Amino acid sequence: MEVLISESKIEKRINELAKEINKEYEGKELILLGILKGSIVFMVELAKKLKMKVKFDFMEVSSYEGTESTGNLKIKKALKEDIEGKDVLIIEDIIDTGRTLKELKKYLEAKNPNSVKIATLLSKPSRRVVEIEADYMGFEVEDKFVVGYGLDYNQKYRNLPYIGYIE
Ligand code: IMP
Ligand code: MG
Repeated sequence: MEVLISESKIEKRINELAKEINKEYEGKELILLGILKGSIVFMVELAKKLKMKVKFDFMEVSSYEGTESTGNLKIKKALKEDIEGKDVLIIEDIIDTGRTLKELKKYLEAKNPNSVKIATLLSKPSRRVVEIEADYMGFEVEDKFVVGYGLDYNQKYRNLPYIGYIE
């Protein structure tokens, strides 16, 4: 396993992101919506640094290509919170093609929240097929399959404290 982003670098970056988020949502209540399972480690570390009132919710979703070029959203675990009028921050591990988040954002916006923003630990901009960007992004990575800090390869390596890749 090659280390791509060390634990200390990730911690430092999460502190910076938390500062930005604390500023933006000061005095508000924020729903952190973790996308299972990859976002878990990032969400826990980020949440501990947030100062506003925070609620946790989780969804498990996947996108798949239908016969048309648009992605479709498959919901495996549904939202619990009523998000109407609320501020929602989606927590994701990585934006790859962008299909999942594009569809999810559309789905959530239809429920009339006050705002829906995205925080992702990683982004692979070279792989994007739909237009979507995160409001808070930890690191850009090149087109390599990465694991650790929540991200898996066949459900393994999620517990690694750093981001690595298999040569
Ligand atoms: P997409 O942006 O809709 O293509 O899907 C992103 C999802 O694919 C992420 O939430 C991950 O679960 C998974 N994924 C994409 N790239 C990687 C990677 O390099 N390592 C582990 N999972 C990945
Ligand atoms: Mg995922």
